[in-house]
Amino acid sequence: ANAANLNLDDIQGDILIGMKKNQELFYFFSILDSSDFKPKLASDILPNITSTSQLLDVSKQPVTMLNIAFSATGLSALGVDESLGDSAFAGGQFKDLRSLGDPGSDNWVPDFAGTDIHGVLLFASDSQDNINDAVFELESALGGSIKKVYSLAAAARPGSQAGHEHFGFLDGISNPAVEGFNADQAMPGQARISSGTILLGETGDFGRGRPAWAKDGSFLVFRQLKQLVPEFNKFLVDNPIVGNGLTREEGSELLGARMMGRWKSGAPIDLAPLRDDPELGADPLRNNNFTYAHADLDLSTDQSRCPFSAHTRKTRPRADQGENLVTQIMRAGIPYVSDDEAAANTTSTERGLAFVAYQSNIGNGFRFMQQTWANSINFVNPGVGVDPIIGSLAGAERVIKGMDPSNANQTITLTGNNFVISRGGEYFFAPSLSAIASKLSV
Ligand code: HEM
Repeated sequence: ANAANLNLDDIQGDILIGMKKNQELFYFFSILDSSDFKPKLASDILPNITSTSQLLDVSKQPVTMLNIAFSATGLSALGVDESLGDSAFAGGQFKDLRSLGDPGSDNWVPDFAGTDIHGVLLFASDSQDNINDAVFELESALGGSIKKVYSLAAAARPGSQAGHEHFGFLDGISNPAVEGFNADQAMPGQARISSGTILLGETGDFGRGRPAWAKDGSFLVFRQLKQLVPEFNKFLVDNPIVGNGLTREEGSELLGARMMGRWKSGAPIDLAPLRDDPELGADPLRNNNFTYAHADLDLSTDQSRCPFSAHTRKTRPRADQGENLVTQIMRAGIPYVSDDEAAANTTSTERGLAFVAYQSNIGNGFRFMQQTWANSINFVNPGVGVDPIIGSLAGAERVIKGMDPSNANQTITLTGNNFVISRGGEYFFAPSLSAIASKLSV
C-alpha cells in the first residue's frame, strides 16, 4: 500500500524504519587498502546489506541484518572527493564538538577524537551470537583491507524495560511519517515530512550540488551518550515537585516526566499532566496525539502541562513552531552497556544511548536540535533554560525554568553535565545500494 514512489529496494533498511532488533553492534573501521577493499565491498558487503523492502517483509529478513555508512574521510579513502553539500558531514563530528556543547574531548572515546574512522557497519539480530558469527564471516572476507577501530555493542533492555532507555522512559514513540512511504498510515500526531528531509535527492531536500549517486542516501549521526542513571534517580528523589496532592515519591516521578516530556510509560505529560497513564502510553492512536496547544491555555506562556524545556518539547516543539517540518530526524538509537575496561584502563561499566539519527542535512536536523534548540536557554521562550536531558553548555552550570507546574519561575540548577555525557561520535553517510554498486566499490 505504501512506497508509492520511493525505491525501497535501494534504500538501506535502518534509515526509514530502523532495524529494531534486540541486539545491535556498531563496528567502526578504517580502510587500510582501498583497492583491496572496493571489490570486497561489492562482493561481500553489498549483497548482505539489508534494504528497506527486505526489512518490511519478515520472510525476507536475514538472521543478521547489515547496514553500512561512511564518514567524509572514508569517502575520500575510497577516492570519492565530491562534496555531498553538507558542511557538518565534510568536517566530521570531532571538529564540531564545541558547536554541540561538548566541553571538550576529554570525555570522548579516544577513537572518535580524530578523523580516522572511515565507516561503520551496523549489525542487528536477535542474539549477540548471531552477530558474532556475521562479524567473523565478514572479517574473514575483508582480511587486511580494513581494520576495526572501535565497536559498541548495544541491546534492548530486558523484560518489562524492553523499548525503554536507561533512565526508564519508553523511547522510539515519535518518529516522523514520510511522504511516499508511510505518511498515508501516519498515526495521530505524527509529523508528516517530505521524503527529502531524510533522503538526499528526494522531494524536499534543499541541498545544493549533490552528485546524482548520493540520491536516496542519508546522513547518519552517531553519538555515544553515556547516561548517569543513579545520579539521575537521586536528583529526582532529592527534588520532588511538591503540592498538587502528590506524595513525595509521586513528586519525584513528576519531575522526571517534566524533564523528559513523557512519563516512563510513554504517556505524554501534555495529556497526562500529574500522573502517569500507562494505557495512554501504550496506545499508538493516542500517545502521540498532542501539540502542547490547549484552547483554555496561552500557548506562548503556559507551562502547567509541559515545560518549554522538556526534552520532547525542545526537540520537537510542535505547535510552538507551527510544526516545523524541516528540523526533523529519523531516530534509530538503542541502549548500550559497555565494559570496555581494556580501553579505559580502569574498572568501568558504562551505559547509555547509542544515538542514531538520519536526515538529509545535518545542520537542519540533529545539529539544529542540539545546538539551537536543546542547548539554547532562550528556545522557545526567553530564559526557559536548556533541555535538562541533553542540553549542554560546554560543562557550564545550567539553570532551567518551568519544572514546577504551579510556579513557572522556580528554577532547577544542573552543574557539570549531570546526567548525559557525550562520549563523542561521528557523522556518516549511508548510501543507497546502487551508489555502492556503481560509485563506491568501483
Ligand atoms: C524523544 C530519550 C537524546 C531527539 C525522546 C523520548 C525519550 C528520549 C524517552 C520520548 C520517546 C519518543 O517520543 O519517541 C533520550 C535520551 C537521550 C536522548 C535518554 C540521551 C541519552 C536525544 C538527542 C536528540 C534527541 C541527542 C537530538 C539532538 C529526540 C526527538 C524526540 C525524542 C526528536 C521526539 C520528540 C517528539 O517527536 O515529540 N528522547 N533522548 N534525543 N528525542 Fe531523545
